[in-house]
Amino acid sequence: MAANSNPSPTPTPPSSGRSWRQFKETISLLILAFRPRRGRADLVYNMLGTHNNLAEKSLFLNLGYWEHAKTYDEACTALAEELAKDARIKDGDVILDAGCGFGEASAFWSHKYKLPKIRALNITKSQLDVARERWKALNVEFVEGSAMEMPFGANEFDALLALESSFHFPDRLQFFREAMRVIKPGGTLAIADFFPLKQKVALSQRVKEWIGRGLWQIPNANWVGLDKVQGQLQELGFEAVSLRDISPHVFRPFKTFAQKRIQDPVIAERVHPMLLKAWGGPHSGLERSQYVILIVKKK
Ligand SMILES: C[S@@+](CC[C@H](N)C(=O)[O-])C[C@H]1O[C@@H](n2cnc3c(N)ncnc32)[C@H](O)[C@@H]1O
Repeated sequence: MAANSNPSPTPTPPSSGRSWRQFKETISLLILAFRPRRGRADLVYNMLGTHNNLAEKSLFLNLGYWEHAKTYDEACTALAEELAKDARIKDGDVILDAGCGFGEASAFWSHKYKLPKIRALNITKSQLDVARERWKALNVEFVEGSAMEMPFGANEFDALLALESSFHFPDRLQFFREAMRVIKPGGTLAIADFFPLKQKVALSQRVKEWIGRGLWQIPNANWVGLDKVQGQLQELGFEAVSLRDISPHVFRPFKTFAQKRIQDPVIAERVHPMLLKAWGGPHSGLERSQYVILIVKKK
């Protein structure tokens, strides 16, 4: 889907305003990186705003699916498309987008399928304010709340899609319990997310990864392997439908793209220098991870 005609990522303010903004962002980044307890993703996304991203016209915030994509917007749209395809979304489905960011995926799904009103849930109010304005013509209801305690009734949804968001939720197992409650019997839980692989690495690498998980507020409880997560889902009564490891179409191509993208003067001006370094540097902190699209069904 082409991004709409609404404003895209925020342009850079005059340099005095930018210096002050970047000073405040530096403080936020340092606090996030070393905050002992993780799980405050709202702080991350308040700090990122609409300018700290690599997008062209969209406001997507994921790593993208790069099999055929050339631009960030295309790759992020493709990831939303792959997730819905694996979830077998069809016209008429009642769906929930959990951790909806600026609502780009919901907007894409609402164009692609004939759906009744999509619900899009987010803990970050500043993103919802932008999303409501950006997509006011669409059939999407943006709801403020946490995936840990969803403001929805039992058995409401044919499908719950979590596009690169469940790693943030303070306790992903509690999110699964909530998913079990709000999804209809026979309905689908679809997750696009990354999980650590069991590999030994040097202590210095571990420290870097720990800082990275602080920066992105990934709770330690969520940093568990896919096998454990699949076990949790099974114990709760979900039935496996499909699992696709799409890592080769995500991590490396995103890194290659990001390293080039940060050379663009518009991005170099717009994005905080520490984030430019993180996105453009040789390591992503996710080298020991796998990126999967996981689909399960409520029995
Ligand atoms: C990496 S972004 C992905 C956004 C969007 N799905 C996309 O692909 O552009 C993660 C999103 O999850 C949201 N989020 C984090 N923790 C949440 C929670 N506990 N409940 C609901 N949303 C949450 C964040 O505010 C952010 O919008």
